[in-house]
Amino acid sequence: MIDRFGRKITYLRLSVTDRCDLRCVYCMAEDVTFKPRAELLTLEELGRLCEAFVRKGVRKIRLTGGEPLVRRNIMSLIDRLGALVADGRLDEVTLTTNGTQLAKHADGLATAGVRRINVSLDTLDPTRFTSLTRHGRLEQVMEGIFAAKAAGLAVRINTVTLPGINDHEFDDLVAWCGLHGFDLCLIERMPMAGDSTSRHLALSQVRSDLERRWTLVDCDWQTAGPARYATIAETQCRIGFITPMSACFCDGCDRIRVTCTGALYTCLGQEDAIDLGTPLRASESDHHLERIIDSAISAKPERHGFVGDVQINRLARGMNITGG
Ligand code: GTP
Ligand code: 5AD
Ligand code: SF4
Repeated sequence: MIDRFGRKITYLRLSVTDRCDLRCVYCMAEDVTFKPRAELLTLEELGRLCEAFVRKGVRKIRLTGGEPLVRRNIMSLIDRLGALVADGRLDEVTLTTNGTQLAKHADGLATAGVRRINVSLDTLDPTRFTSLTRHGRLEQVMEGIFAAKAAGLAVRINTVTLPGINDHEFDDLVAWCGLHGFDLCLIERMPMAGDSTSRHLALSQVRSDLERRWTLVDCDWQTAGPARYATIAETQCRIGFITPMSACFCDGCDRIRVTCTGALYTCLGQEDAIDLGTPLRASESDHHLERIIDSAISAKPERHGFVGDVQINRLARGMNITGG
Protein backbone atom coordinates (compact mmCIF):
# COMPACT_ATOMS: atom_id res chain seq x y z
CA MET A 1 0.00 0.00 0.00
CA ILE A 2 1.55 3.27 -1.12
CA ASP A 3 -0.27 6.57 -0.69
CA ARG A 4 -0.26 9.53 -3.05
CA PHE A 5 2.73 11.07 -1.21
CA GLY A 6 4.79 7.95 -1.85
CA ARG A 7 4.57 6.68 1.73
CA LYS A 8 4.55 2.93 2.15
CA ILE A 9 1.95 1.79 4.68
CA THR A 10 3.12 -1.26 6.59
CA TYR A 11 1.85 -0.64 10.11
CA LEU A 12 -1.66 -1.13 11.50
CA ARG A 13 -2.73 0.19 14.89
CA LEU A 14 -5.84 -1.68 15.98
CA SER A 15 -7.95 -0.27 18.80
CA VAL A 16 -9.64 -3.37 20.19
CA THR A 17 -11.88 -1.45 22.61
CA ASP A 18 -12.68 2.18 23.37
CA ARG A 19 -13.12 1.25 27.03
CA CYS A 20 -10.56 1.75 29.74
CA ASP A 21 -10.40 1.23 33.48
CA LEU A 22 -8.66 4.62 33.88
CA ARG A 23 -9.70 8.15 32.90
CA CYS A 24 -6.45 10.01 32.21
CA VAL A 25 -7.21 13.73 32.22
CA TYR A 26 -5.66 14.28 28.77
CA CYS A 27 -7.51 11.35 27.25
CA MET A 28 -11.08 10.86 28.48
CA ALA A 29 -13.76 12.85 30.25
CA GLU A 30 -14.79 11.37 33.58
CA ASP A 31 -18.30 10.72 32.19
CA VAL A 32 -17.21 9.53 28.73
CA THR A 33 -19.78 7.54 26.75
CA PHE A 34 -18.51 4.36 25.11
CA LYS A 35 -19.69 2.74 21.90
CA PRO A 36 -22.69 0.43 22.38
CA ARG A 37 -21.38 -3.13 22.76
CA ALA A 38 -23.55 -4.29 19.84
CA GLU A 39 -21.44 -2.13 17.48
CA LEU A 40 -18.18 -3.77 18.49
CA LEU A 41 -16.63 -6.16 16.03
CA THR A 42 -15.98 -9.59 17.49
CA LEU A 43 -12.40 -10.74 18.02
CA GLU A 44 -12.96 -13.14 15.15
CA GLU A 45 -13.97 -10.23 12.87
CA LEU A 46 -11.01 -8.14 14.03
CA GLY A 47 -8.73 -11.10 13.28
CA ARG A 48 -10.16 -11.35 9.78
CA LEU A 49 -9.57 -7.62 9.24
CA CYS A 50 -5.97 -7.93 10.43
CA GLU A 51 -5.41 -10.76 7.96
CA ALA A 52 -6.82 -8.63 5.13
CA PHE A 53 -4.33 -5.88 6.04
CA VAL A 54 -1.48 -8.39 6.21
CA ARG A 55 -2.34 -9.52 2.67
CA LYS A 56 -2.18 -5.85 1.67
CA GLY A 57 1.37 -5.53 3.01
CA VAL A 58 1.05 -4.69 6.72
CA ARG A 59 4.13 -6.04 8.58
CA LYS A 60 3.50 -4.72 12.08
CA ILE A 61 0.36 -4.62 14.21
CA ARG A 62 0.04 -2.70 17.47
CA LEU A 63 -3.03 -3.31 19.62
CA THR A 64 -4.30 -0.25 21.43
CA GLY A 65 -7.51 0.85 23.17
CA GLY A 66 -8.86 2.39 25.30
CA GLU A 67 -7.02 -0.25 27.22
CA PRO A 68 -6.47 -3.34 25.05
CA LEU A 69 -6.13 -5.74 27.99
CA VAL A 70 -9.63 -4.97 29.34
CA ARG A 71 -11.19 -6.53 26.22
CA ARG A 72 -12.54 -9.94 27.20
CA ASN A 73 -10.60 -12.89 25.72
CA ILE A 74 -8.12 -10.52 24.07
CA MET A 75 -5.41 -13.18 24.33
CA SER A 76 -7.22 -15.21 21.65
CA LEU A 77 -6.63 -12.39 19.13
CA ILE A 78 -3.04 -11.88 20.31
CA ASP A 79 -2.38 -15.61 19.90
CA ARG A 80 -3.82 -15.48 16.37
CA LEU A 81 -1.59 -12.52 15.47
CA GLY A 82 1.39 -14.19 17.16
CA ALA A 83 0.88 -17.15 14.83
CA LEU A 84 1.23 -14.76 11.86
CA VAL A 85 4.57 -13.62 13.29
CA ALA A 86 5.66 -17.23 13.82
CA ASP A 87 4.99 -18.13 10.18
CA GLY A 88 6.74 -15.00 8.86
CA ARG A 89 3.66 -13.17 7.55
CA LEU A 90 4.08 -10.40 10.12
CA ASP A 91 7.28 -8.92 11.62
CA GLU A 92 5.84 -7.83 14.93
CA VAL A 93 2.79 -7.80 17.15
CA THR A 94 2.88 -5.47 20.08
CA LEU A 95 0.67 -3.32 22.27
CA THR A 96 0.33 -0.05 24.11
CA THR A 97 -1.18 -0.52 27.55
CA ASN A 98 -1.86 1.36 30.76
CA GLY A 99 -0.33 -1.56 32.64
CA THR A 100 -3.17 -2.25 35.08
CA GLN A 101 -3.82 -5.76 33.72
CA LEU A 102 -0.24 -6.62 32.83
CA ALA A 103 0.57 -8.70 35.89
CA LYS A 104 -2.13 -11.12 34.75
CA HIS A 105 -1.14 -11.17 31.06
CA ALA A 106 2.64 -10.67 30.87
CA ASP A 107 3.55 -14.35 30.58
CA GLY A 108 0.80 -15.00 28.03
CA LEU A 109 1.97 -12.06 25.91
CA ALA A 110 5.54 -13.35 25.88
CA THR A 111 4.34 -16.84 24.97
CA ALA A 112 2.20 -15.45 22.14
CA GLY A 113 5.32 -13.87 20.62
CA VAL A 114 5.06 -10.26 21.83
CA ARG A 115 8.60 -8.94 22.33
CA ARG A 116 8.14 -5.34 23.46
CA ILE A 117 5.36 -3.23 24.85
CA ASN A 118 4.72 0.44 25.55
CA VAL A 119 3.28 1.25 28.97
CA SER A 120 1.74 4.64 29.74
CA LEU A 121 3.10 6.14 32.95
CA ASP A 122 3.11 9.89 33.51
CA THR A 123 4.34 10.13 37.09
CA LEU A 124 6.17 8.17 39.76
CA ASP A 125 4.16 9.81 42.53
CA PRO A 126 1.23 7.65 43.76
CA THR A 127 -1.01 10.61 44.67
CA ARG A 128 -0.39 12.40 41.39
CA PHE A 129 -0.94 9.13 39.52
CA THR A 130 -4.38 8.75 41.07
CA SER A 131 -5.32 12.31 40.30
CA LEU A 132 -4.03 12.15 36.69
CA THR A 133 -5.80 8.88 35.92
CA ARG A 134 -8.80 9.69 38.18
CA HIS A 135 -9.06 6.00 39.13
CA GLY A 136 -5.64 4.39 39.06
CA ARG A 137 -3.37 2.90 41.68
CA LEU A 138 0.30 3.31 40.85
CA GLU A 139 1.17 0.16 42.76
CA GLN A 140 -0.97 -1.97 40.41
CA VAL A 141 0.75 -0.53 37.33
CA MET A 142 4.21 -1.01 38.86
CA GLU A 143 3.33 -4.63 39.54
CA GLY A 144 2.35 -4.98 35.88
CA ILE A 145 5.51 -3.31 34.58
CA PHE A 146 7.76 -5.57 36.63
CA ALA A 147 5.79 -8.66 35.63
CA ALA A 148 6.41 -7.66 31.99
CA LYS A 149 10.11 -7.26 32.68
CA ALA A 150 10.22 -10.63 34.45
CA ALA A 151 8.48 -12.23 31.44
CA GLY A 152 11.30 -10.94 29.22
CA LEU A 153 9.32 -8.20 27.45
CA ALA A 154 11.22 -5.03 26.51
CA VAL A 155 9.35 -2.12 28.08
CA ARG A 156 9.10 1.44 26.83
CA ILE A 157 7.49 3.91 29.22
CA ASN A 158 5.25 6.50 27.54
CA THR A 159 4.98 9.82 29.37
CA VAL A 160 2.67 12.56 28.13
CA THR A 161 4.36 15.82 29.12
CA LEU A 162 1.96 18.08 30.97
CA PRO A 163 3.06 21.57 31.99
CA GLY A 164 2.34 22.30 35.64
CA ILE A 165 1.54 18.62 36.32
CA ASN A 166 4.54 16.35 35.68
CA ASP A 167 7.16 18.66 34.15
CA HIS A 168 9.39 18.53 37.25
CA GLU A 169 9.56 14.70 37.09
CA PHE A 170 11.41 14.02 33.85
CA ASP A 171 14.84 13.72 35.50
CA ASP A 172 13.42 11.22 37.96
CA LEU A 173 11.75 9.26 35.17
CA VAL A 174 15.01 9.08 33.21
CA ALA A 175 16.84 7.85 36.31
CA TRP A 176 14.13 5.32 37.19
CA CYS A 177 13.95 3.94 33.64
CA GLY A 178 17.76 3.74 33.59
CA LEU A 179 17.77 1.80 36.82
CA HIS A 180 15.34 -0.79 35.48
CA GLY A 181 16.47 -0.95 31.85
CA PHE A 182 13.37 0.65 30.29
CA ASP A 183 13.30 3.04 27.35
CA LEU A 184 11.37 6.25 27.97
CA CYS A 185 9.33 8.20 25.47
CA LEU A 186 8.19 11.75 26.14
CA ILE A 187 5.09 12.81 24.22
CA GLU A 188 3.62 16.22 23.46
CA ARG A 189 -0.04 16.14 24.35
CA MET A 190 -2.41 16.48 21.40
CA PRO A 191 -5.75 18.31 21.61
CA MET A 192 -8.40 15.60 21.31
CA ALA A 193 -11.98 15.48 22.58
CA GLY A 194 -12.11 14.55 26.25
CA ASP A 195 -8.74 16.13 26.96
CA SER A 196 -9.20 18.46 29.92
CA THR A 197 -5.65 19.84 29.90
CA SER A 198 -5.02 23.07 28.07
CA ARG A 199 -1.37 23.37 27.04
CA HIS A 200 1.44 21.34 25.57
CA LEU A 201 5.12 21.52 26.31
CA ALA A 202 7.58 21.87 23.41
CA LEU A 203 9.97 18.97 23.84
CA SER A 204 13.02 20.82 22.44
CA GLN A 205 13.07 22.79 25.70
CA VAL A 206 12.57 19.63 27.76
CA ARG A 207 15.50 18.00 25.95
CA SER A 208 17.76 21.01 26.65
CA ASP A 209 16.81 20.87 30.32
CA LEU A 210 17.58 17.15 30.49
CA GLU A 211 20.95 17.73 28.83
CA ARG A 212 22.09 19.69 31.86
CA ARG A 213 22.20 16.43 33.76
CA TRP A 214 22.35 13.66 31.14
CA THR A 215 24.40 13.08 28.01
CA LEU A 216 22.05 12.45 25.09
CA VAL A 217 23.60 10.93 21.99
CA ASP A 218 21.35 10.76 18.90
CA CYS A 219 21.05 7.12 18.05
CA ASP A 220 20.84 5.11 14.87
CA TRP A 221 18.01 3.04 16.28
CA GLN A 222 14.91 4.65 14.84
CA THR A 223 11.63 2.95 14.19
CA ALA A 224 9.70 4.43 11.29
CA GLY A 225 7.42 5.83 14.00
CA PRO A 226 7.09 9.38 15.23
CA ALA A 227 9.62 9.06 18.08
CA ARG A 228 13.12 10.46 17.58
CA TYR A 229 15.52 8.61 19.85
CA ALA A 230 18.73 9.36 21.69
CA THR A 231 20.76 7.12 23.97
CA ILE A 232 21.43 8.37 27.46
CA ALA A 233 25.14 7.73 27.92
CA GLU A 234 24.91 7.39 31.70
CA THR A 235 22.19 4.69 31.64
CA GLN A 236 22.56 3.24 28.14
CA CYS A 237 18.75 3.40 27.84
CA ARG A 238 16.99 5.20 25.04
CA ILE A 239 14.88 8.32 25.30
CA GLY A 240 12.37 9.12 22.56
CA PHE A 241 10.66 12.40 21.78
CA ILE A 242 7.27 12.53 20.04
CA THR A 243 6.60 16.07 18.87
CA PRO A 244 3.33 16.32 16.92
CA MET A 245 2.77 19.89 18.08
CA SER A 246 6.24 21.39 17.69
CA ALA A 247 7.92 19.35 14.92
CA CYS A 248 5.81 17.48 12.40
CA PHE A 249 6.91 13.93 11.52
CA CYS A 250 4.16 13.10 9.03
CA ASP A 251 6.52 12.94 6.01
CA GLY A 252 7.62 9.48 7.11
CA CYS A 253 4.21 8.19 8.17
CA ASP A 254 3.85 4.43 7.70
CA ARG A 255 0.63 3.79 9.61
CA ILE A 256 -3.12 3.57 9.63
CA ARG A 257 -5.56 2.76 12.41
CA VAL A 258 -8.74 0.73 12.76
CA THR A 259 -11.21 1.16 15.61
CA CYS A 260 -13.12 -1.53 17.49
CA THR A 261 -16.17 -0.86 15.29
CA GLY A 262 -14.14 -1.19 12.11
CA ALA A 263 -13.65 2.49 11.22
CA LEU A 264 -10.43 2.98 9.26
CA TYR A 265 -8.66 6.26 10.08
CA THR A 266 -5.74 6.88 7.80
CA CYS A 267 -4.54 9.77 10.00
CA LEU A 268 -4.71 10.19 13.78
CA GLY A 269 -5.07 13.95 13.48
CA GLN A 270 -7.91 14.12 10.94
CA GLU A 271 -11.61 13.33 11.18
CA ASP A 272 -12.26 11.34 8.00
CA ALA A 273 -12.84 7.61 8.40
CA ILE A 274 -13.93 4.74 6.16
CA ASP A 275 -16.34 2.10 7.38
CA LEU A 276 -14.99 -1.44 7.15
CA GLY A 277 -17.34 -2.79 9.84
CA THR A 278 -20.49 -2.80 7.67
CA PRO A 279 -18.99 -4.72 4.71
CA LEU A 280 -17.28 -7.09 7.12
CA ARG A 281 -20.55 -7.85 8.86
CA ALA A 282 -22.32 -8.20 5.52
CA SER A 283 -19.84 -11.01 4.77
CA GLU A 284 -18.45 -9.18 1.77
CA SER A 285 -15.56 -10.96 0.08
CA ASP A 286 -11.92 -10.39 1.00
CA HIS A 287 -11.47 -8.84 -2.42
CA HIS A 288 -14.23 -6.29 -1.71
CA LEU A 289 -12.67 -5.37 1.66
CA GLU A 290 -9.28 -4.96 0.05
CA ARG A 291 -10.72 -2.62 -2.60
CA ILE A 292 -12.19 -0.39 0.13
CA ILE A 293 -8.82 -0.39 1.89
CA ASP A 294 -7.09 0.65 -1.35
CA SER A 295 -9.43 3.58 -1.85
CA ALA A 296 -8.90 4.73 1.76
CA ILE A 297 -5.11 4.62 1.35
CA SER A 298 -5.30 6.68 -1.81
CA ALA A 299 -7.11 9.41 0.19
CA LYS A 300 -4.72 9.39 3.20
CA PRO A 301 -4.13 13.03 4.26
CA GLU A 302 -0.66 14.55 4.01
CA ARG A 303 -0.47 15.40 7.70
CA HIS A 304 -2.41 15.90 10.90
CA GLY A 305 -4.29 19.13 11.51
CA PHE A 306 -3.01 19.94 14.99
CA VAL A 307 -1.59 23.40 14.68
CA GLY A 308 -0.22 25.66 17.37
CA ASP A 309 -1.54 25.32 20.87
CA VAL A 310 -4.56 24.85 23.07
CA GLN A 311 -7.98 24.58 21.48
CA ILE A 312 -6.96 25.02 17.86
CA ASN A 313 -8.15 22.12 15.75
CA ARG A 314 -9.17 20.00 18.69
CA LEU A 315 -10.53 16.76 17.24
CA ALA A 316 -14.13 15.73 17.82
CA ARG A 317 -13.14 12.20 18.80
CA GLY A 318 -11.21 11.08 21.83
CA MET A 319 -7.80 9.38 21.83
CA ASN A 320 -9.50 6.23 23.17
CA ILE A 321 -11.28 5.74 19.80
CA THR A 322 -8.09 5.21 17.80
CA GLY A 323 -5.63 4.55 20.63
CA GLY A 324 -3.16 7.16 19.42
P1 GTP B 1 6.05 2.57 17.56
O1 GTP B 1 5.09 1.51 17.19
O2 GTP B 1 7.33 1.99 18.09
O3 GTP B 1 6.26 3.58 16.47
O4 GTP B 1 5.40 3.28 18.80
P2 GTP B 1 4.46 4.56 18.90
O5 GTP B 1 5.24 5.62 19.60
O6 GTP B 1 3.86 4.94 17.62
O7 GTP B 1 3.26 3.96 19.77
P3 GTP B 1 2.46 4.40 21.03
O8 GTP B 1 1.16 3.68 20.95
O9 GTP B 1 3.27 4.16 22.24
O10 GTP B 1 2.18 5.92 20.87
C1 GTP B 1 2.95 6.93 21.51
C2 GTP B 1 2.39 8.29 21.16
O11 GTP B 1 2.59 8.54 19.79
C3 GTP B 1 0.89 8.43 21.45
O12 GTP B 1 0.66 9.68 22.02
C4 GTP B 1 0.30 8.35 20.08
O13 GTP B 1 -0.89 9.07 20.00
C5 GTP B 1 1.38 9.01 19.25
N1 GTP B 1 1.33 8.61 17.84
C6 GTP B 1 1.50 7.35 17.35
N2 GTP B 1 1.38 7.39 16.00
C7 GTP B 1 1.11 8.66 15.66
C8 GTP B 1 0.86 9.33 14.45
O14 GTP B 1 0.86 8.74 13.37
N3 GTP B 1 0.61 10.66 14.50
C9 GTP B 1 0.62 11.35 15.65
N4 GTP B 1 0.36 12.67 15.60
N5 GTP B 1 0.85 10.77 16.82
C10 GTP B 1 1.08 9.44 16.84
N1 5AD C 1 -1.96 13.47 23.58
C1 5AD C 1 -0.87 12.67 23.45
N2 5AD C 1 -0.82 11.39 23.83
C2 5AD C 1 -1.94 10.89 24.38
N3 5AD C 1 -2.20 9.66 24.86
C3 5AD C 1 -3.50 9.64 25.29
N4 5AD C 1 -4.07 10.85 25.11
C4 5AD C 1 -3.11 11.64 24.55
C5 5AD C 1 -3.10 13.00 24.13
N5 5AD C 1 -4.18 13.81 24.23
C6 5AD C 1 -1.20 8.59 24.87
C7 5AD C 1 -1.31 7.65 26.05
C8 5AD C 1 -0.74 6.36 25.50
C9 5AD C 1 -0.77 6.54 24.00
C10 5AD C 1 -1.48 5.50 23.25
O1 5AD C 1 -1.39 7.78 23.75
O2 5AD C 1 -0.60 8.09 27.14
O3 5AD C 1 0.59 6.17 25.94
FE1 SF4 D 1 -7.03 4.82 29.47
FE2 SF4 D 1 -4.83 5.19 28.00
FE3 SF4 D 1 -6.75 6.95 27.84
FE4 SF4 D 1 -5.37 6.76 30.11
S1 SF4 D 1 -4.55 7.37 28.05
S2 SF4 D 1 -7.60 6.88 29.97
S3 SF4 D 1 -4.91 4.66 30.22
S4 SF4 D 1 -6.90 4.86 27.18
